Amino acid sequence: MIPDAEQPLSFETHVKPLFRERDRGSMEFAFDLWSHDDVSEYADAILDRLEEGAMPCDGAWSREKVDLFRRWTQNGKLPLTHPKSRRAVTYLRGGKSRLI
Ligand code: HEM
Repeated sequence: MIPDAEQPLSFETHVKPLFRERDRGSMEFAFDLWSHDDVSEYADAILDRLEEGAMPCDGAWSREKVDLFRRWTQNGKLPLTHPKSRRAVTYLRGGKSRLI
């Protein structure tokens, strides 16, 4: 189900589940598709391949999935969102966190 436009998207909740184990295995020669840091770093190149339908090479993603990935890249590439809130979570020193 595509989260509504107001809902912040996070890597853990919305993006990581888009990548199959097979995708991760196939691409680990270049980056880890289950790593927030890696996918954030290569987000533009990944989005290009997804929009072209070049990757995954065994069948392009639906328009909804590509749009969801693009929306995540255009809204701060958040790692996590607070489960009970529509707000994002940011992490402070000393392991504390706060909603933003
Ligand atoms: C910067 C983005 C990407 C580049 C440059 C890229 C490049 C490649 C290359 C060169 C291969 C062939 C490797 C080989 O022959 O063994 C490959 C395979 C594959 N890639 Fe990507 N890829 C990208 C993103 C992705 C993404 C985002 C996905 C999944 C959503 C994906 C899924 C796959 C799969 C499933 C294969 C294996 C195909 C097979 O052997 O059946 N790739 N990719």
